Amino acid sequence: MPSSVKLFEALTLRDTTLPNRIVVSPLCQYSAIDGVAQPWHFAHLSSFARGKAGLVFTEAAAVEARGRITPDCLGIWNDAQADALRPIVEFIESMGCVPGMQLAHAGRKASTSSPFSKRGPVPLTEAEAGDAGAPWQTVAPSPLPVAEGWHLPIELDDHEMQNIEQAFVASARRALQAGFRVLELHMAHGYLLHSFLSPLGNRRDDAYGGDLEGRMRFPLQVATAVRAAIPDGTPLFARISAIDGREGGWSIEDSVEFSRRLAAAGVDVVDCSSGGIGGAPRFRSDDEGKPLTRDSARRPGFQVPFSRAIREQAGIRTMAVGVIIDPRQAEEILRSGGADLVALGRELMYDPFWPLRAAETLGVDPDFRMWPPQYAWAVDRRAQIKTLNES
Ligand SMILES: Cc1cc2nc3c(=O)[nH]c(=O)nc-3n(C[C@H](O)[C@H](O)[C@H](O)COP(=O)(O)O)c2cc1C
Repeated sequence: MPSSVKLFEALTLRDTTLPNRIVVSPLCQYSAIDGVAQPWHFAHLSSFARGKAGLVFTEAAAVEARGRITPDCLGIWNDAQADALRPIVEFIESMGCVPGMQLAHAGRKASTSSPFSKRGPVPLTEAEAGDAGAPWQTVAPSPLPVAEGWHLPIELDDHEMQNIEQAFVASARRALQAGFRVLELHMAHGYLLHSFLSPLGNRRDDAYGGDLEGRMRFPLQVATAVRAAIPDGTPLFARISAIDGREGGWSIEDSVEFSRRLAAAGVDVVDCSSGGIGGAPRFRSDDEGKPLTRDSARRPGFQVPFSRAIREQAGIRTMAVGVIIDPRQAEEILRSGGADLVALGRELMYDPFWPLRAAETLGVDPDFRMWPPQYAWAVDRRAQIKTLNES
């Protein structure tokens, strides 16, 4: 393997070595029952392991029932949920890949319907009360709905915040018992911990609100508590929304400061996403500063500048995500110092074999040796076609 290809360089984080820099971004499947993984989850996550992504993250797993986005989301608040994940973890390991879990609490964005339902992903109504006790009371730093028509959350008090912190800790332990080797705290996309960070979600006037220090307090407390509860050797990631992309919202400067503090709290990698605090995010172009439409903003690598800034200024490893679709683009992001890892979401759902194809494209695996031996016949044929085309 040419060692010059960064995408396929191993990365050791604490006691865990990722075989390459390709990460499966957390992807909600809205297919769990009572928070328990189903055969779909096995099929979905195992396909990325067959494709040889270095680190395979589960979708957001809720640390308590009211922290689910929808009644169909995955949970990790009880042992039955952990048990159902064990075969998935074992399969990912058997492929030489590393299983990771994203721990989440949806906060004021909880209690919505599945995007597959007729109405789409909107707050659940009483009429849908048949759905696993839905709708349920949502919680947040402040009693502010996400937008008009959304549930009105209740403001968390100190005691409830303690309980949620403990739910993150218990879920982290449970995930490790199930065999996951990397954990990620979901602090992005407008969910509970992000809504504490952003001035647009947090209007508290106690120690957990107000200035940046106050707004960072609870998310940092959760990170510190989880770090203290897991072995030193376990890598801990945090996904953040690097900017809110809205007037008066969280900024990249805030993210740099927060990332420094996450590093001090024992977080190893900041996973750099953006947006989600309110309605559709409005991003700004990094060059001219003029507003971009949603579609034009989501050009390839649109969030890489956030990852680069945090990596350069906060002294912590970062993961870039968002429309990373081409192996050469991914390689360039790593090579130019934009990130230490690249996460892919939709592209991997489209093609779970993307890492193996990338290895071929980048000359790392011209003879298809990285493919599972069970598929040798398929790749032999592919090799023959390649030789014919080249002759
Ligand atoms: C179907 C779907 C489900 C997602 N679920 C999650 C999730 O559970 N947690 C999370 O942090 N991000 C989630 N995301 C965001 C992705 O992880 C990723 O950041 C985003 O899709 C941008 O990357 P991409 O352009 O490679 O898809 C989801 C995205 C999609 C399309």
